[in-house]
Amino acid sequence: MTNVILLGPPGAGKGTQAKRLVQERGMTQLSTGDMLREARSSGSEMGLKVAAVMDAGGLVTDEIVIGLIREKLESGESAGYIFDGFPRTLAQADALGSLLAQMGQKLDAVIEMQVDDAVLVRRISGRYTCGSCGAVYHDETHPTKVAGTCDYCGSTNLVRRADDNEESLRYRLTEYYKKTSPLIGYYHATGDLRRVDALASVDAVAAAISAALEQG
Ligand code: AP5
Repeated sequence: MTNVILLGPPGAGKGTQAKRLVQERGMTQLSTGDMLREARSSGSEMGLKVAAVMDAGGLVTDEIVIGLIREKLESGESAGYIFDGFPRTLAQADALGSLLAQMGQKLDAVIEMQVDDAVLVRRISGRYTCGSCGAVYHDETHPTKVAGTCDYCGSTNLVRRADDNEESLRYRLTEYYKKTSPLIGYYHATGDLRRVDALASVDAVAAAISAALEQG
């Protein structure tokens, strides 16, 4: 079993690569962003509470996101988890370590996806996803083969995120550098950190992640 964290700023390609690992290795993607968006669209009390924070690009409280991850880890079995967008604070990293230890598991690798801020605006402003299966597309670099229809599930429900605008992205980046980037040092110290050039093509990034996972 391999448990891996994909760590990087908004638009680094965490979701894109998580889906590759699901397809290629049968691992389970745990994206706190997706879980929070699901809670919003279900209209739950928690979903309504986090909506404004998410749209502005701020971080939802540690208590809420740790609760979401705990629920998923306690309710299922997996060939390995891909933590996508979690942890994002030192408190979340500590909580994840404890949760895995309670399950008799450990973290195998933390992949830092390195990009330049300059490419992120372009990636984020062109992004759209399939509202049915979650496939990720881009207007210029990865459009659907048939306009308006998902390549994977045939759905015509293609959506753009409310926080994918320049103002929100700027704040998401500030939050990333202030609260999440200290995790790079944290996981360097534990010996789990692996660095990948996430400016390369999707296939090249996937190959680099595979190589990093084989490295153990
Ligand atoms: P979340 O959903 O996690 O968003 P994010 O971290 O901002 O990351 P993104 O989903 O924007 O980017 P990504 O790295 O997955 O890139 P993608 O693969 O889509 O979080 C949203 C919000 O929820 C947060 O702001 C916060 O409010 C809240 N939240 C979530 N988790 C939380 C937590 N743990 N604690 C507190 N709050 C939390 O790719 C982007 C685009 O680029 C796509 O169009 C794709 O096609 C393209 N692309 C990808 N790779 C490449 C490549 N190699 N070359 C060219 N184009 C590429």
